[in-house]
Amino acid sequence: MDFKNLLLEIAEGVAVLTINRPKALNALNEETLLELECAVAGLGENRDVSCVIITGAGEKAFVAGADISAMQPLDAADGRRFAKLGHRVMATIEKLPKPVIAAVNGFALGGGCELALACDIRIASDNARFGQPEVNLGVIPGFGGTQRLPRLIGKGRAKELIFTGDMVDAQEAYRIGLANKVTPLADLLQTARELARKIASKGQYAVRLGKEAINNGLDMDQDKANQYEADLFGICFATADQKEGMQAFLEKRPAKFTGM
Ligand code: HXC
Repeated sequence: MDFKNLLLEIAEGVAVLTINRPKALNALNEETLLELECAVAGLGENRDVSCVIITGAGEKAFVAGADISAMQPLDAADGRRFAKLGHRVMATIEKLPKPVIAAVNGFALGGGCELALACDIRIASDNARFGQPEVNLGVIPGFGGTQRLPRLIGKGRAKELIFTGDMVDAQEAYRIGLANKVTPLADLLQTARELARKIASKGQYAVRLGKEAINNGLDMDQDKANQYEADLFGICFATADQKEGMQAFLEKRPAKFTGM
């Protein structure tokens, strides 16, 4: 499928989805959000894809936010609709039954930081800058940032970032748990691909259930979450991958997973 504002490349079980509006620092307008939703949903269905990487075109920005020129004339009802569209797209990414890695290659601001937060893992290039600068524009984060940022880095740090609009560099993002890893910009995609291929080599059914257990369990109390984990753990024993994984261990050979 051809997209106007996205590039998509699939190789060795890994899809690289590039937000491609470099002249606007890959800012997310409605058209780009809809394309992103369509592309990610399609990758969920694609049996050739085990893992997805999302990045931005160019060397300057991952995504510098929602498109400010498109938002400027909105009224209250339009603003709410735009936020809800963003929520839907971020939820499609967060709930995708496959891991999604953000390869953050520069500015990840506002909606760009929120896009990175909707991904499972964030790898930052050494020039990356993260922030929620919406207060500088008289608004608040609207693509889930007020919810996902505190869940990831804690309430206090999230409030500081959201109240000040300050950016943090890649090392600080790593220190506070916003980035999983920092690499030189030149190595970013390679590092993301290596991680994606490593994950793709594991039992895909188990990876999927691990994602579900973490995502859904964190919103439950500990007893319910343990019950949920036990249910998912039980489901693993109905898969060929569990039989193969444990048999291979006992036979001292590498497992050949099928994702079934
Ligand atoms: C539209 C954007 C943009 C954005 C950059 N551009 N960010 N256009 N929306 N979010 C455009 C600029 O207008 C400019 O276009 C070109 O990209 C290059 O940007 P410059 O500002 O010239 O680059 P530079 O001086 O290097 O500064 C980089 C920057 C700055 C620090 C990232 O662009 C910036 O502050 N951008 C806005 C960041 C931001 O506030 N993001 C949050 C948005 S609100 P021209 O045509 O002049 O070359 C948000 C809400 C989400 O995301 C929730 C919604 C419901």
